[in-house]
Amino acid sequence: KNIKILGSAVSIGQPKKGVEHTPAVLKIEKIEKLIDPVKADWVDIVNQPRYTIERLRQSPIRNLVENAKANKRIHDAIINYANPNDFFLNIGGDHSIGSSTVTALNRIHNENLSVIWIDAHGDCNTPLTSPSGNYHGMPLAHALGFFKETKYFDWGQTILPISSVALIGIRDLDIEEKIIMDKEGVLYFTMNQVRNIGMDKVMGEVMHKIDPNGKKMIHVSLDVDGFDPTLFPGTGTAVPGGLNFNDYKIFMKHIRRIGERFVSLDIVEVNLEIERDITLMNVKELLKHTFH
Ligand code: ARG
Ligand code: MN
Ligand code: MN
Ligand code: MN
Repeated sequence: KNIKILGSAVSIGQPKKGVEHTPAVLKIEKIEKLIDPVKADWVDIVNQPRYTIERLRQSPIRNLVENAKANKRIHDAIINYANPNDFFLNIGGDHSIGSSTVTALNRIHNENLSVIWIDAHGDCNTPLTSPSGNYHGMPLAHALGFFKETKYFDWGQTILPISSVALIGIRDLDIEEKIIMDKEGVLYFTMNQVRNIGMDKVMGEVMHKIDPNGKKMIHVSLDVDGFDPTLFPGTGTAVPGGLNFNDYKIFMKHIRRIGERFVSLDIVEVNLEIERDITLMNVKELLKHTFH
């Protein structure tokens, strides 16, 4: 498989600067050589400039219009560059891009996508439950159809069935967000569960739920704050007590079993303006464990 790398240089899904520079830095660092010197290459970097971070009066989503624009451009870039036989790697940017990557990849794979969302957070807030107004806390809710934003996201989000999603690494849900996730029956594994039953068992249950017949295409949306902040201190909303590389190795053992049906990966929320050296080193470590 060819590995196509898209940069999504977007940081308007949350208030901190820095994540928008990550694709350019990783391009300078030539991560494509680390991934696969022959088959991996960058296709594009989609830039979405920062605007004043004001909660718009018309909407509880901060930077609604710009978030919609950024997501549409990333969606279109994926539709343009990706084909079903490639592996697609999307480098963020904050996690606000998670709704358009899911939508575009689901289209490319004939609405046959299942998603594993690695995160400290649920990213299942709606504009009304969000305590922050930051869209990076809402993309999964959007992809699952927990709210509609049709005026600006008029290019059409596909709605992913709840049975096609599982989250791992959870340890910071907002109160109302948790109520929605539990009510809708979203499958998620908290860090406590990962520690109690182990990643092997967690992944067994995840795959059983989201890929019961072994026919789905699998997309992993990896928010690096799912990992412990000692490994990825360079992230905007760090929460102590996360995953380590041993957990990730076990995770990847299960992912490798699905072979060619592992079709895409988002790596998001990497902010190299915070603790750059260790964060950059561990991004490379993460790529090594993913592709080798
Ligand atoms: N739950 C919080 C919020 O909605 C934090 C979300 C963090 N999301 C992320 N992708 N890091 O504002
Ligand atoms: Mn900067
Ligand atoms: Mn997160
Ligand atoms: Mn996230």
